[in-house]
Amino acid sequence: MVEIPDYLLERSREARAQLTGAASGNDATGSDSAEVTASASEPTITEPVVTEPVIEKIEPPKPIAPWVTAAQERKKIPVWMAPVALFLPIWAFMIWGTLEKPTYDDEGPVAAGGAVYDANCSSCHGAGGGGGVGYQLNEGEVVKTFPDVESHIAWVVNGSSPAGTPYGDSNREGGQRIAQNQGVMPGFAALESIEILEVVLYERVTHGLEGTQQLEAYILWAESGELPEWEDGISPQSISASFMEFVEMNPEALEAYEETLEEASS
Ligand code: HEC
Repeated sequence: MVEIPDYLLERSREARAQLTGAASGNDATGSDSAEVTASASEPTITEPVVTEPVIEKIEPPKPIAPWVTAAQERKKIPVWMAPVALFLPIWAFMIWGTLEKPTYDDEGPVAAGGAVYDANCSSCHGAGGGGGVGYQLNEGEVVKTFPDVESHIAWVVNGSSPAGTPYGDSNREGGQRIAQNQGVMPGFAALESIEILEVVLYERVTHGLEGTQQLEAYILWAESGELPEWEDGISPQSISASFMEFVEMNPEALEAYEETLEEASS
């Protein structure tokens, strides 16, 4: 036996009450109205609830503009061209730089520094220090930037700062140096300390036009072979402390150093 749910019974009862109410307004007899009630209530129970169907609206694809199609089909510059184009001027300078003639005599740490320079620095700075990717070093320029050996050494070990950063002597004749954006100099901490000192001495003599006499204590330092490791981030102060340690232990170097101090103050 099928049980009729309560809510359906309730609904039929209401429908019937409505119809009987409407029938009582007519001239129909009680029995007639009962019959109407019975037949009218039937569909109320079975009639399914009809909900409006949801119609999804599908928009037709928009036509693609001809210039968009043209842009999509056009041949593009390969991605790797960007770094290549960026470094082209640097390479151009590197090749140009190697064409100049090196200038150094052939003995001692200064000459040894020349070999280090040719191998590691001439590509950017020019074989004669005339400049290229970096500033001109020769005709005394490099010594104007770094009046002391220690900050010169620290610069070569650490490499250049980001573009826009001032470096070297802030009272530099001709204005303080500012790192350029056309190329950043790598740090050379991977070189031996002796090579760093040699190349600095070489630059100061051949480009900076400093006399070897003036650099005697540093030349002795290079010849002693008693150099600490210079790692990335080294400060001129720390290099100076090592140098002073050496000078205090070495009478010849001390004498040479005192002479340069006297010369500087006179
Ligand atoms: C990849 C190129 C490149 C190489 C290689 C390079 N440098 Fe430089 N160097 C520069 C640039 C560029 C500057 C200027 C600073 C800047 O613009 O960032 C500079 C600046 C300098 C300066 C300061 C000069 C001044 O008066 O302002 C010195 C000293 C120097 N380099 C020494 C060296 C030494 C020594 C080596 C080799 C051991 C070397 N550089 C290798 C690019 C290079």
